[in-house]
Amino acid sequence: MAKVLVTGSSGFVGSYMVEHFKNTDVELIVTSRTVTNQNTVRLDLNDKESVIEVLRENKPTHIVNLAGQSSVGLSWKHKQTTFEVNMLGIMNLLDVVLEYIPDCRILSVGSSEEYGLVNLGDCPIPETNVLNPLSPYGLSKLSAGYLCMQYARSYGINVFHTRTFNHIGVGQNLGFVTQDFAKQIADIEKGDQEPIINVGNLEAIRDFTDVRDIVEAYELLLFNAEGGEIYNVCSGKGLRIIEILNILISKSKADINIVQSTDKMRPADVPILIGDNSKLISTTNWNVKHTIENSLEEILNYYREK
Ligand code: GDD
Repeated sequence: MAKVLVTGSSGFVGSYMVEHFKNTDVELIVTSRTVTNQNTVRLDLNDKESVIEVLRENKPTHIVNLAGQSSVGLSWKHKQTTFEVNMLGIMNLLDVVLEYIPDCRILSVGSSEEYGLVNLGDCPIPETNVLNPLSPYGLSKLSAGYLCMQYARSYGINVFHTRTFNHIGVGQNLGFVTQDFAKQIADIEKGDQEPIINVGNLEAIRDFTDVRDIVEAYELLLFNAEGGEIYNVCSGKGLRIIEILNILISKSKADINIVQSTDKMRPADVPILIGDNSKLISTTNWNVKHTIENSLEEILNYYREK
């Protein structure tokens, strides 16, 4: 039976990944930097001793790396931490795998932000596209991806890297667009906020997928991907951020005014990211099961009930 270790399991995607694996036939090792319950093992990628201890003791056959700094917005303010966790953290993980469990299969989770500034004509973006990251986060994930490819090439370890596009769902932190919009709408409905929603750049186009479909893709890749390969994880469809806002507002009876605030604008924001998912589909037969409209409704209802 496969012994699957998940890092970053108390994070947004990590917690969905753990729930997903609980319904499959694998032995699960749930790890996190901060431990809040007895079923979780402490593992901090930046503390190499903790990585050695956990990997030597548990000897997983598969690892999904979901530990990381996931906010593009925050990466502008916390550049150093973003690189420490997203790049040096995975270097520790790969070095320990190489030394103690060299046959282990590792899924490294990267980002569409690695593509950065792309031409409209390059969409849907294939994995072979040129990489022009615009954010510190994008560069940190690009570095992690190149690091994985170098370890696969030079040492022959079974590591593969995703470029995952935007993913949403209940439980994602504030600071991500659908959460920021939905919380404000719910607060306006409750009378806790004047009927003005503060937003950032509404012109960007992003490729959104429900987190439950994303973790299914990760499971399929974990067992079917080729070492040394990159895989886009995305729906292949683009939505402008204003469309996301309009869908959420259309689900509310409140009369809402939209105001753009400068503190929500980033020094640079990638204008368009729509991915080509054909490699993922041909490798795994993955398909999208959840609609974005439904995911948005669930997120809004979560804040209404909170
Ligand atoms: N967060 C946020 N809040 N973003 C806003 C807002 C707002 O009030 N208003 C507009 N935006 C715009 C951002 O400028 C960006 O263009 C878009 O909405 C999406 O922002 P985020 O939800 O913060 O996501 P992201 O695209 O920067 O990064 C997400 O997707 C990546 C893959 O493309 C994260 O999930 C990353 O971890 C992931 O790798």
